[in-house]
Amino acid sequence: MLIGVPAETAAGETRVAVTPETVKKLVASGHIVRVQSGAGVAASVTDAAYQTAGAEITDQAGALSADMVLKVRTPSDAEASLMKPGAVVIGMLNPFDAAGLQRLASAGITGFALEAAPRTTRAQSMDVLSSQANIAGYKAVMIAADRYQRFFPMLMTAAGTVKAARVVILGVGVAGLQAIATAKRLGAVIEASDVRPSVKEQIESLGGKFIEVSYDTDEEKEAAVGVGGYAKPMPPSWLARQQVEVAKRVALADIVISTALIPGRAAPTLITEDMVKAMKPGSVIVDIAAGKGPVNPDGGVGGNCPLSEADKTVVKHGVTIVGETNLAALVAADASALYARNVLDFLKLIVTKEGALKIDLEDDIVAACRVTQDGQVTKK
Ligand code: NAI
Repeated sequence: MLIGVPAETAAGETRVAVTPETVKKLVASGHIVRVQSGAGVAASVTDAAYQTAGAEITDQAGALSADMVLKVRTPSDAEASLMKPGAVVIGMLNPFDAAGLQRLASAGITGFALEAAPRTTRAQSMDVLSSQANIAGYKAVMIAADRYQRFFPMLMTAAGTVKAARVVILGVGVAGLQAIATAKRLGAVIEASDVRPSVKEQIESLGGKFIEVSYDTDEEKEAAVGVGGYAKPMPPSWLARQQVEVAKRVALADIVISTALIPGRAAPTLITEDMVKAMKPGSVIVDIAAGKGPVNPDGGVGGNCPLSEADKTVVKHGVTIVGETNLAALVAADASALYARNVLDFLKLIVTKEGALKIDLEDDIVAACRVTQDGQVTKK
């Protein structure tokens, strides 16, 4: 099969959908791989490295006109117009972006959105949400440590003792767990909150403390179980109690990393303006949910904190609030390496050993990821 890999065109996108390692495997399986010149540069991969792995170097039109296109982000209008009707695109196509899916369907493109894969053991090796959220959680702590004007670890020096940083993590999915592990390695004292009580053990095993909030009604208990591993919106009664407990910890915190998301909905507000006002000057919030929160009265979109601004770092009430929306892109080489392996593993489900496309909708992962085909939006 002819496989094309264009350079990403979305602002700030540094990742690339194949690496020399995955190109080599695709070529060994009999595919022709055409990579757009410069596609890997921001992820530290040269054209020469792709060529050595067996790829041909082409231009944008050459990469997008292939039978199968491997991408990181969903194709733009301009990119879709360069693709062939009937071509397949695999990428993070944003299954909640109805207009984007319609664009692919109208162009006759068969789209597979890897974010839609179920969170099952079999799907783990192609789970792009996990591979990229893991990196985001790490990078959020790195950025916080960089912005924070104090040490993370407790230090006893001849010039006196320095206290360990207190870190609060809100939302303990993949990103939150990696943030806990990373902050712990730096010597911080960590507390974390999630709606799902099942994460308590995971937090404790990484050396953090779970912020306990009781589940008082059947409705609260049922919502806390979530669905498919994901959080469901919690009843306001529980959220009010959570806010009281979280506010106490945030007021004492030096760093807050917030990662709380609910698929297909606005991210919950967990750090109110009053909570920011109560924080110490010089504290840092890294809001991984920036740009995914409710619309503010001024029309802006925050994250878990309404004061966050997508893709900006702002200082509000003496607190630095980082609203970077694509943290994984700031670790471009490893983010691409893991993403490319996710893509390669997914390809094994839709390409036969002989190299032909075979879309088996009996396969739950294939069926969940297929979002467009034959001119229709087929997203489940
Ligand atoms: P996510 O990115 O959708 O959400 C992040 C976290 O925010 C979640 O832990 C969620 O419970 C939490 N959250 C939502 N509302 C909140 C609130 N009001 N307050 C505090 N926290 C709140 O989650 P992610 O990282 O995508 O993980 C989702 C689930 O999938 C997890 O249960 C994870 O363990 C599971 N998973 C399973 C895998 C597998 O078995 N193959 C692989 C990866 C993840």
